[in-house]
Amino acid sequence: METERNTSQPATSLPRLGQPAPMFEAVTTHGVLKLEDFKGSWLVLFSHPADFTPVCTTEFLGFTQLYPEFKKRNVALLGLSIDSIYAHIAWVRNIEEKFGVKVPFPVIADLNKEVATAYGMIMPGESKTETSRCVFVIDPEGIVRAMIYYPLTTGRNMNEIVRLIDALQTADKYKVATPANWQPGDKVIVPTPNTQEMAEERVAKKGEYELVDWYFSKKTLSKTGV
Ligand code: BEZ
Repeated sequence: METERNTSQPATSLPRLGQPAPMFEAVTTHGVLKLEDFKGSWLVLFSHPADFTPVCTTEFLGFTQLYPEFKKRNVALLGLSIDSIYAHIAWVRNIEEKFGVKVPFPVIADLNKEVATAYGMIMPGESKTETSRCVFVIDPEGIVRAMIYYPLTTGRNMNEIVRLIDALQTADKYKVATPANWQPGDKVIVPTPNTQEMAEERVAKKGEYELVDWYFSKKTLSKTGV
């Protein structure tokens, strides 16, 4: 017997960490934008359920407040929902009128659900007509580096998204990893040795690191990263 399938979101095309982000060309509040337009900068592509809703409004205020922090890190913001361009324009104008805040980033009007479907932003278990609160961090080469999914009822923490960007950029620059609850300036994790010889070397060189055991060492990054 054939099982019923939801063909609107083919599993094969969903974004995967470490793989190229799905291409798009979309109508936004700042004109037509394509994924390629963001080449050379980091991109935080995020969806919200609907315009003129309270939690989403607090998120737009939060993203706007931290916009300078994203900019400092060479990160562009791009919002999306399944609403018309006119609804988006009216909503960002309303945010400016009611909160005195001008939304500085573009918002995709994805009425035909093309981008939402390509990125798997619609979770039919939550809503068939709204995107969930998804975040895709895409690096300057167009590779998906992180994904966050929040439900309709929970507003996201924008400071955590900035922290995630800091962690990714630090990992790329210094070839290290970052521990739980890491904040810039904290010690980082030195890559774990992957041969017995390297493990012995690590233990022998323990003065260079804060060494707990051969597989677990931390270090402070100096200004030069050494
Ligand atoms: C909101 O943004 O307030 C919201 C949107 C969809 C479902 C629940 C809350």
